[in-house]
Amino acid sequence: MTPDGDAFARRMFDLDDRVAIVTGASSGLGASVARALASLGARVAVVARRHDRLAGLAKEIDGLAVACDLSDPERAGSVVPAVAADLGPPEILVNAAGGMFTEERAEDEPLDAVRRTLDLNLVAPFLLAQAAFPHMRAVGRGAIVNVSSISGRVGIPGIPQASYAASKAGLSGLTAELAVQWARHSIRVNTVAPGFFRSEITGPLYESERAAAYLRRNTPLPKEGDADDIVGAVVWLAGDAGSYVTGQTIVVDGGWTAR
Ligand SMILES: NC(=O)c1ccc[n+]([C@@H]2O[C@H](COP(=O)([O-])OP(=O)(O)OC[C@H]3O[C@@H](n4cnc5c(N)ncnc54)[C@H](OP(=O)(O)O)[C@@H]3O)[C@@H](O)[C@H]2O)c1
Repeated sequence: MTPDGDAFARRMFDLDDRVAIVTGASSGLGASVARALASLGARVAVVARRHDRLAGLAKEIDGLAVACDLSDPERAGSVVPAVAADLGPPEILVNAAGGMFTEERAEDEPLDAVRRTLDLNLVAPFLLAQAAFPHMRAVGRGAIVNVSSISGRVGIPGIPQASYAASKAGLSGLTAELAVQWARHSIRVNTVAPGFFRSEITGPLYESERAAAYLRRNTPLPKEGDADDIVGAVVWLAGDAGSYVTGQTIVVDGGWTAR
C-alpha cells in the first residue's frame, strides 16, 4: 500500500479521542472490546457490576469505571449521564453485557428468569441507546453496537435457551428500527452475533469434554473461539471503517450458521 493508502487505512480505525461506553467490560468480550477501543484512541467508560474488576481495567486503559446493575432500569438510566459528565458526550456505545438466568427447557422456564433475561439483554441496551441518543445527535454522529448471539437466529439443539434467544433476536429488531429512525443524525446501529467462544458464561460448557466436542463438531473453522475473535467486528462497526453500515446483524461464529 502507498504511504497515502496506509494513512487512509489507519484513519478508518482511528477513534481519536471519541468517548465510548462498553457494558459487560468486567470480563470476556466487553473487556476485550474496551481494550481494543482504547488502543485506537477512544476514551472508554467500562460498565458492569464488579467494581474491582472495572477499576483495574479503567486504570490500565486510562478510562472510567462505572459500576451498575444494568438489569435495574433505574440504575441503567444513570450510566450515560455519569459518563457524559466525566468524559464528555458518548459517540460509541457497545452493549456487551448479557447473561442467561435459566437452563430449563422452554416449557419450564420460570417467569422471573424470562423477565430478568429480557431486562438485562434487551431492555438495558435500549435504555442506554435512548440515553446516548441526544448526545450523539448533538455531536452529529454515533455508533451503537449491540452484542447478540447466533441463538437469536437459529435454535441450538441440546442447550435450551428460549428467553435468551428471544432477547438476542429482539436486539436485531431493535437494531434495524433504531438504525432507520436515527440514520438522519448519522447515528449507526448494528449488532454483532457471536457463535460460541470461551468466557465466564460458557466456561462450564468448555470444561465438559462432551460439550466441548459438540462445539468443535459444529464449528467449521478449526480454531476454538475466544473473545478476541469477535472484537474485530465490533471495532469495524464502532469506527469509520463501518461508516456505511447500519441496521445489520453481523454473524461471527466460525461458520456455525453457514452449515
Ligand atoms: N461466550 C459466548 O459463547 C457467547 C456467544 C454468543 C453471545 N455472547 C454474548 O456476548 C456478550 C459477552 O459475554 P461473554 O461471553 O464475554 O461473557 P462474560 O465474560 O460472562 O461477560 C458478561 C458481562 O456482562 C456483565 N453483566 C452480567 N450481568 C450484569 C448486570 N446485571 N449488570 C451489568 N453487567 C452485567 C458481567 O459483569 P458483572 O458480572 O461484573 O456484572 C460481564 O462483564 C453477552 O451479551 C453474551 O450474551 C456470548
